[in-house]
Amino acid sequence: MTAFPQSLFDLSGRTALVTGASSGLGQHFAQTLARAGAEVVLAARSVDKLEAAVQGIRQAGGKASAVSLDVTDRDSVCAALDAVGAPDILVNNAGVSGTKRPLDYTDADWDWVLDTDLKGAWMTAQETARRLVAARRPGSLINITSILASRVTGLLTPYAAAKAGLSHLTRALALELARYQIRVNSIAPGYFITGINREQLTGEEGEKFKLRIPTRRFGEYPDLDGPLLLLASDAGRHMTGAELVVDGGHLVSAL
Ligand SMILES: NC(=O)c1ccc[n+]([C@@H]2O[C@H](COP(=O)([O-])OP(=O)(O)OC[C@H]3O[C@@H](n4cnc5c(N)ncnc54)[C@H](OP(=O)(O)O)[C@@H]3O)[C@@H](O)[C@H]2O)c1
Repeated sequence: MTAFPQSLFDLSGRTALVTGASSGLGQHFAQTLARAGAEVVLAARSVDKLEAAVQGIRQAGGKASAVSLDVTDRDSVCAALDAVGAPDILVNNAGVSGTKRPLDYTDADWDWVLDTDLKGAWMTAQETARRLVAARRPGSLINITSILASRVTGLLTPYAAAKAGLSHLTRALALELARYQIRVNSIAPGYFITGINREQLTGEEGEKFKLRIPTRRFGEYPDLDGPLLLLASDAGRHMTGAELVVDGGHLVSAL
């Protein structure tokens, strides 16, 4: 019998860039990739928070560094990638969201969300792919979408539109970049408590909200580890254009 590989998910020797790694899911993604052996670069605008996270990863035995990045600014995206080099793995995680009724959103609100969640992810993926292709190296790009890419809820109109765009961008890029051995997939999280939604998901309202989720709980950060490592590593080597939903069944519920 052929021995099963020690770890299909081993990322030793790979580099990974995680955008929006100064807090929440992005910071956890960086820690997870480092634990799997990757050398991770944590990117966001809050460099002080990144540096603290880098220290934590290093103290745990991982390899990490930080780079300042504003995904809404192409010069900043290029400068960050030029500083760290093209990563083998990109986690396009930076995101923002506001809550208003559709009649109240301003153009500035719309641009803030779309420029970060969709255009920012596009520019970061494009500049990463350009550098990987020039270096003739394969890669894995992972976009963090949302279940709101497929279903909708109140007050989040631009966010839902941006995430639906990012979900479809994933498939469009997967088609075009396959010839360069660059895989492009997405993870669609359900509800995980982070800075982006803490107000909505805690307290009495949060408890009511939980009843809409078939598993009756919010996601816990480690719930995302398996899907992330599957897409990042050779375990998912024939996967491209896929979206992994991690939501406790929320998307298949009627509520
Ligand atoms: N939490 C959930 O339930 C949930 C569900 C589905 C999808 N998601 C998605 O998961 C991703 C992470 O969100 P989160 O919940 O972890 O929220 P979070 O804690 O607020 O993290 C958002 C991250 O994005 C970064 N960011 C925002 N604007 C940026 C910009 N212009 N350039 C670079 N980085 C920027 C922030 O860092 P700086 O402010 O330091 O730049 C921060 O690190 C988002 O794409 C979000 O839409 C979250």
